[in-house]
Amino acid sequence: MPVSDAHRIVTRDLDTPPRLLLGPGPSNAHPRVLRAMSNRQVGHLDPTFVALMNEVQELLRYAWQTDNQVTIPVSGTGSAAMEAAVANTVEPGQSVLVGCNGYFGERMVDMASRYGAVVHRMDAPWGTSFDLDTIRKAMETARPSVLGLVHAETSTGARQPLEGVRALCDEFDCLLVVDTVTSLAGVKLFIDEWGIDAAYSGTQKCLSCPPGLGPLTLNQKVIDRLARRTKPVPNWYLDMSLVGKYWGSARTYHHTAPINMNYGIREALRLVAEEGLEARWQRHEDNARMFWNGLEAIGLSCHVDEEIRLPSLTTVRVPDGVDSGRVARTLLNEYNIEIAGGLGQLAGKVWRVGMMGFNSRPENVRLLLAAMEDVLSKETAA
Ligand SMILES: Cc1ncc(COP(=O)(O)O)c(C=O)c1O
Repeated sequence: MPVSDAHRIVTRDLDTPPRLLLGPGPSNAHPRVLRAMSNRQVGHLDPTFVALMNEVQELLRYAWQTDNQVTIPVSGTGSAAMEAAVANTVEPGQSVLVGCNGYFGERMVDMASRYGAVVHRMDAPWGTSFDLDTIRKAMETARPSVLGLVHAETSTGARQPLEGVRALCDEFDCLLVVDTVTSLAGVKLFIDEWGIDAAYSGTQKCLSCPPGLGPLTLNQKVIDRLARRTKPVPNWYLDMSLVGKYWGSARTYHHTAPINMNYGIREALRLVAEEGLEARWQRHEDNARMFWNGLEAIGLSCHVDEEIRLPSLTTVRVPDGVDSGRVARTLLNEYNIEIAGGLGQLAGKVWRVGMMGFNSRPENVRLLLAAMEDVLSKETAA
């Protein structure tokens, strides 16, 4: 039979536009990260790669402020790490309580249900967070084995304060699982100090690396529970009792790690260590504050109260009568700047602006404010 040419299209060399990615992610990768990713490959069990794996784990421990042995980049995006956190902490029939104040809390509910948990929701308006009293009341009803919270809700721009949650979890003998996708390396975060048992993240936000790996950290309590399970984790790829042997001292083959992505995260984490976490958190805070002040100066306001507003992600209220989608499209097409619209409860009501990692710089703040002012003046004059 002759080979069909039906799908044999001829395409041009890739030529991507020079976008400034100021949306909810991905953000632009740091040039040093892109350069590191283009290094020649070694095998995934090569001594060079094994040494690199150790460095990535150690630097991730620094970025997360944890001594957890199991601290690895899961092969996959943030959702893979999220699923790994859920699959390795939740057992069928267990009660799981999830804070739902945005899109990613909803995703955790969906995942925990798929792993057979009896899921209890703790709802709050999008853009707010939960106080300790509210969490306690919900825990009294749900009696959860696992509490899931999103530290940095990318869909709303709200930060979930975590201090004090550990003490509540201890009262209920409950694991604390936290989404740190939009906070790792951009927003103050202490895994061990705050008593977080499991956390996950992504590479494409404040780490300034392309999407493709999902950092995950699990403490000894999670590992002990994992060892006591009577049935295996129902997801082979994400079962940390198997993956752990690849990233742990045994280094036995589990899957082929994405070599060049790991070059990338190593460089991204080196940049974090060079800058220092406190300086990095402060830079995000300073540039966010400059952006918020600038918004006010051009007559725009933020959706989230300043006290719990994320420096990495700002939700900007869309003025009455303005078409949020058209403004975002104009910024993309005429200024090469990407921002995003709202999701769910906030669809059409806010723009989402990310100032993450490498992109959190004063010149980007000035550029975006000037472009927004320009586009909005034409929009309101139309
Ligand atoms: C808070 C949060 N959790 C989870 C995810 C899922 O990560 P990914 O899209 O990399 O799979 C995202 C992605 O934006 C996120 O912002």
